[in-house]
Amino acid sequence: MSSTLTATGVRRPTRPRFLPPWRDRQGRLSPLKSLVLLGACVPAMLIVFWWLNGDLGPRTVNAAIHLTGLWTVRFILLSLAVTPARVVFDRPKVVLVRRMLGVTAMVYALAHLSLYIVDMNFHWLEVVLEIVRRFYLTIGFVALIGLVALGATSTDAAVRRMGRNWKRLHWSIYGIGVLMLLHHFLQAKAGVSAAVLAAGLFIWLTLWRLLPERRRASPWVLGVVSIAAGMLTAGLEFAWYALATRINPWRVLSANLDFAFGPRPAEWVVICGLGVVAACALSRLRFEPRRS
Ligand code: HEM
Repeated sequence: MSSTLTATGVRRPTRPRFLPPWRDRQGRLSPLKSLVLLGACVPAMLIVFWWLNGDLGPRTVNAAIHLTGLWTVRFILLSLAVTPARVVFDRPKVVLVRRMLGVTAMVYALAHLSLYIVDMNFHWLEVVLEIVRRFYLTIGFVALIGLVALGATSTDAAVRRMGRNWKRLHWSIYGIGVLMLLHHFLQAKAGVSAAVLAAGLFIWLTLWRLLPERRRASPWVLGVVSIAAGMLTAGLEFAWYALATRINPWRVLSANLDFAFGPRPAEWVVICGLGVVAACALSRLRFEPRRS
């Protein structure tokens, strides 16, 4: 790497103007970033492969819209999970992939909108009118604009230029998360299990953010957060069925106590949360030196 001589006569390595996404800030190859980059491309490659292979069913474009929408949600949740992972498992390096995950979410969201335009046969006026007329499209569009704003201000130069305002702007990811989930629920109509699960994981991540800093890596507190997130998820699912469908919400709620058909979304939230608790406790056993 090249270096520059500072005013005090010290040689400092100059940071290259452009770093490929698989390199860290020092310009070295980062196995973690390379792996996440590969993982970010896999869903897109699979969608293209299924499309070319005719595996997306009779409504190919619509199926691709659904898949890109689902992956946008997953990458937003993953980007929100980076800070908890850093704190809970004490792994400062994971922060390196937060920006990449956020930008990946934005790219999938743009592909999602582009596929919608393809589905509308490039009738631009109709696309605009539909976005204005249909509430679920309007909020999806607002969420997308928010993601693009965050993506456009994710460069080092923007972070320096915006100072404190950068943090404020990037907190809006939680508002974007609420809009994307509402869009997810509204378009899913009665079959909302995927949306309920995404909302439950979002609730867990939001509750974690609300914890006092010194409690954020305590396995006991994480356990309480997981159970609270599970209960709130079941409550949200109940409220959705009560307010937006004709399905009896009490039957849906009581299904949470029937394990015959496997775990329901609220239970998955508790299972994932307790998985974090177990991993957190294990990582402490492995990495904390024993005090005798
Ligand atoms: C950040 C922004 C967005 C996110 C996270 C998102 C996410 C999603 C998700 C998760 C689904 C459902 C997938 C499923 O249940 O199978 C979906 C469906 C859909 N989204 Fe989005 N979306 C966003 C923005 C948009 C925008 C801007 C448009 C178009 C203007 C749009 C149009 C649609 C359509 C047409 C469907 C399928 C509806 C159907 O088949 O009935 N979305 N979206």
